[in-house]
Amino acid sequence: MAQGNRQLGAAKSAKNDEFYTQYGDISKEVNAYLEFDPDTFRGKSVLLPCDDPEWSKFTRFFAENFERLGLKRLVSTSYAAESKRFKTPYQPTLFESEAPQFDRTKTAVKGKIFVLDHDTNANGRIDLDDLEWRYLADDGDFRSPEVRALRDEADVIVTNPPFSLFREFLAWIFEAGKEFLVIGSMNAITYKEVFPLIKANKLWMGESIHSGDREFGVPKEYPLEAAGWRIDEKGNHFIRVKGVRWFTNLEHGRRHQPLDLMTMADNLKYSKHKEIRERLYQKYDNYDAIDIPYTDAIPSDYEGAMGVPISFLDKYCPEQFEILGITDRGNEYGLKTREYTEVDTPNANDLNRRGALLVDGVLQSTYARILIRAKK
Ligand SMILES: C[S@@+](CC[C@H](N)C(=O)[O-])C[C@H]1O[C@@H](n2cnc3c(N)ncnc32)[C@H](O)[C@@H]1O
Repeated sequence: MAQGNRQLGAAKSAKNDEFYTQYGDISKEVNAYLEFDPDTFRGKSVLLPCDDPEWSKFTRFFAENFERLGLKRLVSTSYAAESKRFKTPYQPTLFESEAPQFDRTKTAVKGKIFVLDHDTNANGRIDLDDLEWRYLADDGDFRSPEVRALRDEADVIVTNPPFSLFREFLAWIFEAGKEFLVIGSMNAITYKEVFPLIKANKLWMGESIHSGDREFGVPKEYPLEAAGWRIDEKGNHFIRVKGVRWFTNLEHGRRHQPLDLMTMADNLKYSKHKEIRERLYQKYDNYDAIDIPYTDAIPSDYEGAMGVPISFLDKYCPEQFEILGITDRGNEYGLKTREYTEVDTPNANDLNRRGALLVDGVLQSTYARILIRAKK
């Protein structure tokens, strides 16, 4: 990559580290776990490690619902303004600057920790007004020893981690073996650090987001060049982001509802997808599996391997299907039956990345597919 492009790429990913999740999205998702098990969070210590209560609705939601969720402790940490990759003019909030512990020398360079675990104002309930805070010794990086120690003490980790550190953030959670609920781009499904966790049923998609886009708050300095942005009456800026999903290892009900599917014969006759009715189910040229371009066209009676879209994971029920692997560049899952060379075909490189189908006599590559098989 030329230096200019690299700088542009870095600036783009840096600004994407500052997307703020909406209250309604958090509440809808958390409520889905409570519907499945009202005690999902009861007696637990929740850590929100990439937060900033001045912006973040995560702290607000968990503090306001502390008693309803039955939490033991809520800890939220924020990252120092000076350490952020996307720079915006910094001004401490009144909440901070009017507090007795306010320190001009620390405000921009130290992280902060907010703790909620008892009724500080003796009004008979534990809520947002009982949050206590102090500066961290360091900048609040989730990788720092002090935030690592907070992670080790926590039961559940919840956040929208910085986009550029998503892989590292998940590894950080798994290193400690914690429960978690994080929001991120569904592209992460295919990451080589993430997919094995999905395959092993150690990570799955959350309940409430399956399609479309979601609105996120962004700093006022965020360039609003793309379609789908909004500025509210208070001057807060928002953008819409496509392909967002919750990633979790908390149980929820949807995950155990099997897909209602037709047999192969019925699909070939009645599928709403013309492509299935006309082209039938095609076998890949480089995998011992058939290609299923739509999740609702998975035949209920097919016993072999099937390549399905990534969005199948929104409907995945581990009692119904087993995940065998993913169409991958390196044949990590040992499911490929052939590798192409430039001698076979001019688009060998492209075909080796994905499933290849023979369409009108020409080999074409599909989108990324997850390879699954029905459970007996
Ligand atoms: C995507 S934003 C989400 C903020 C908040 N969780 C929310 O959804 O409203 C990620 C936050 O993590 C902060 N951050 C970036 N790098 C970090 C790091 N290494 N450690 C901790 N926080 C970091 C960013 O500055 C940003 O405030």
